[in-house]
Amino acid sequence: MKKVIIILSSIIVLIFIILMIFLFNVNDESIDNLEEKPEYEDINTTEKEKNEFSSYSYYKEENLERYRNYKANNSSLDNSDIVTRVNLNLDKEIYTDTVQATNLNTNYVLVNKFNYLGSDYIPNNLELLDNSYAKSGIYLVKEAKDMLEKLIAAAKEDGLNIRVTSAYRSYSYQVNLYNNYVKTDGEKLADTYSARPGYSEHQTGLVVDVTRSFDNFNNFENTEEYKWMLEHASDYGFILRYPKDKEEITTYTFEAWHYRYVGVDLAKKIKESNLTFDEYYVRYLENA
Ligand code: DAL
Ligand code: ZN
Repeated sequence: MKKVIIILSSIIVLIFIILMIFLFNVNDESIDNLEEKPEYEDINTTEKEKNEFSSYSYYKEENLERYRNYKANNSSLDNSDIVTRVNLNLDKEIYTDTVQATNLNTNYVLVNKFNYLGSDYIPNNLELLDNSYAKSGIYLVKEAKDMLEKLIAAAKEDGLNIRVTSAYRSYSYQVNLYNNYVKTDGEKLADTYSARPGYSEHQTGLVVDVTRSFDNFNNFENTEEYKWMLEHASDYGFILRYPKDKEEITTYTFEAWHYRYVGVDLAKKIKESNLTFDEYYVRYLENA
């Protein structure tokens, strides 16, 4: 009798084990099925998301609706320009949806009407410019200053005289400067040529305004020095920041005198690309 009980209970345990194995297998399969399903959905969604803008590496899914609206109003622009300009917020009013600039204290920090520097931001390594080639009491970040001195010396060898009238400007300096322009010209006009406090890239310490000798900077466009700068500034890491015919993108009128230091490699690439710094930043630097 005892033997029979042992055999019976062994059979019951065995049946129980077989049942459990079977159940678990079924569950695993259903889990597998569940996991596979979204893969099919992903493929379908990705295909759906492909559109006329999505092939660009700087395409942002969240901007799709804006690309479409901007394209509707600017049908002559090609899609790469649509994506670039919308990413720069050029479909918005200036000084709306602004964000604090990133990449502070790098040569490629982007400061414009949508990317600002804090009122307390002061760049590292500011150095006083020598008044043999600059207005007295003005500063620049050391690397930019060293390269500027080489640039000025090279221009001098070619018989030209480049002088600096403005370089680093503090937040409070820009407050006075901008307010004075607004008093004279009104806000709308002032905004086309002067940055509001916090939005001037002069505050990065990477910018110079230059003149021929002691000329007025407004005349710089008509000088040999300007022609020389167009050709050689990038060899020393500087770019023309607000070029002619790019007002729509930079949101500033042409400034023949305003040069931004970005480093030699980048300056050469930007010059070659024929893009403004803003465009180059959005396409190649923002997510690098
Ligand atoms: N004039 C340039 C745009 C500035 O104010 O920074
Ligand atoms: Zn300037």
